[in-house]
Amino acid sequence: MEHKTKATFPKDFLWGSASAAYQVEGAWNEGGKGPSVWDIYTKIEGTTFKGTNGDVAVDHYHRYKEDVRLMAEQGLKTYRFSVAWSRIFPSGKGEVNEEGLRFYNNLINELLANKIEPMITLYHWDIPQALMDEYGGWESRQVIEDFDQYAITLFKHYGDRVKYWISLNEQNYFVSYGYETALHPPGVKDRKRMYEVNHIANLANAKVIQSFRQYVPEGKIGPSFAYKPYYPMDSNPENILAFENSEDLNNYFWMDIYAWGRYPITAWKYLEENNLTPTIQEGDFELLASAKPDFMGVNYYRTTTVDKNPLEGGVDLGVKNTTGKKGSSKDSGIPGMYKSAKNPYLEATNWDWEIDPQGLRIGLRRIANRYNLPVLITENGLGEFDKLEEGDIVNDDHRIDYLKSHIEAIQDALSDGVEVLGYCSWSFTDLLSWLNGYQKRYGFVYIDRDEESEKDLRRIKKKSFYWYQNVIETNGESLQGQSLAQQGENPYE
Ligand code: NOJ
Repeated sequence: MEHKTKATFPKDFLWGSASAAYQVEGAWNEGGKGPSVWDIYTKIEGTTFKGTNGDVAVDHYHRYKEDVRLMAEQGLKTYRFSVAWSRIFPSGKGEVNEEGLRFYNNLINELLANKIEPMITLYHWDIPQALMDEYGGWESRQVIEDFDQYAITLFKHYGDRVKYWISLNEQNYFVSYGYETALHPPGVKDRKRMYEVNHIANLANAKVIQSFRQYVPEGKIGPSFAYKPYYPMDSNPENILAFENSEDLNNYFWMDIYAWGRYPITAWKYLEENNLTPTIQEGDFELLASAKPDFMGVNYYRTTTVDKNPLEGGVDLGVKNTTGKKGSSKDSGIPGMYKSAKNPYLEATNWDWEIDPQGLRIGLRRIANRYNLPVLITENGLGEFDKLEEGDIVNDDHRIDYLKSHIEAIQDALSDGVEVLGYCSWSFTDLLSWLNGYQKRYGFVYIDRDEESEKDLRRIKKKSFYWYQNVIETNGESLQGQSLAQQGENPYE
């Protein structure tokens, strides 16, 4: 759809940036915090790039005031961060850790004092290890009650000041990486268990949304879904079918549950045929259908193009690139359903992630048309190598290009009629990229550390810091005048 004039960003558009506790906080065993599964998992040899972990991360726990000062300088309207469950309940349940509550309370107050809207993620992958030891974490329905109690504690303490909440971050990834590809804790390769875990996570998600209505009636809550819209390789009907298989099994399988409380019919059939269906108990679907979110939270980085994949001898799990060696990933798929294929129209990053701003617009339109829900973009950004030059300069034009084109795609989606509440870039500072160490950088603020050494953890504003500052200040209007930057002159210096 082409428009004669483009929509402008709404006046109260939430220009933001995001992070997650394990990736930034450090202080893994301070302040009364208990260990999470990530504290344990990253210490098993061979699990992460160069054996990196989040013990210190970027030390946000001790430096949060400095970080918030930088956010205020940039003009952020919102900052999305996650709470480490095991900081609040070191054993996952039972006695609350006041010091943990105080840390986030201080962070929230600091943000508000700087006119930044705090946005809390309840769960960003770091379940307390104690619950894993006691009942297998997400594999037991006991987690639903414990997660609910933890969430209620946060609602009661912070609900008076925090309006925007994210329930589960990338549920589709923590279940698939945790139980299908065995890349995340607990490192299991068993698709039956994955679908069981996933169903339990769905129920937990619904339960906390129900509680939220009671404790924070004026607030807004939704999950943040890792959304990779799919494309068919070409117009061959077999590839169109592969595309539909992947949409049903990888996207609608989650979003239909969030929005409507039901699984897509054909994906469910696939599960039945392969003995993968989760255990359904009486009342499950009622609970799921009763907990409609206020928005669909979307983490968008890329699209995936697919074609057919034979049942016999088809491509399976593939290989992920966690080193930044371009081209080292291998196609993945599900035999009889689909497999990924290279899209000849798209460039990729050094970690083999296709760069596709138009895919964001397409995804936003798909969500709006299917669910009639507003969208909150909870993550989007470019993970790349950055170079710290003399004089504390980081010229990350590649990041500016990426963000600019994606923000323009949002503007196009707004023009198409999609309601978008806000945009959180990933991430504010550089941080630990889970399996990829510290060299895959996403931030507006460079952190002086690497895999080998924590160095001085100094905060250094990158060129993109000033660029986004200008975007926020002009509520997106500065994007219009940016041909100058593309011609080599930087109007923001
Ligand atoms: C999604 C996750 O939520 C976040 O933790 C991660 O670092 C980014 N994607 C980049 O991979």
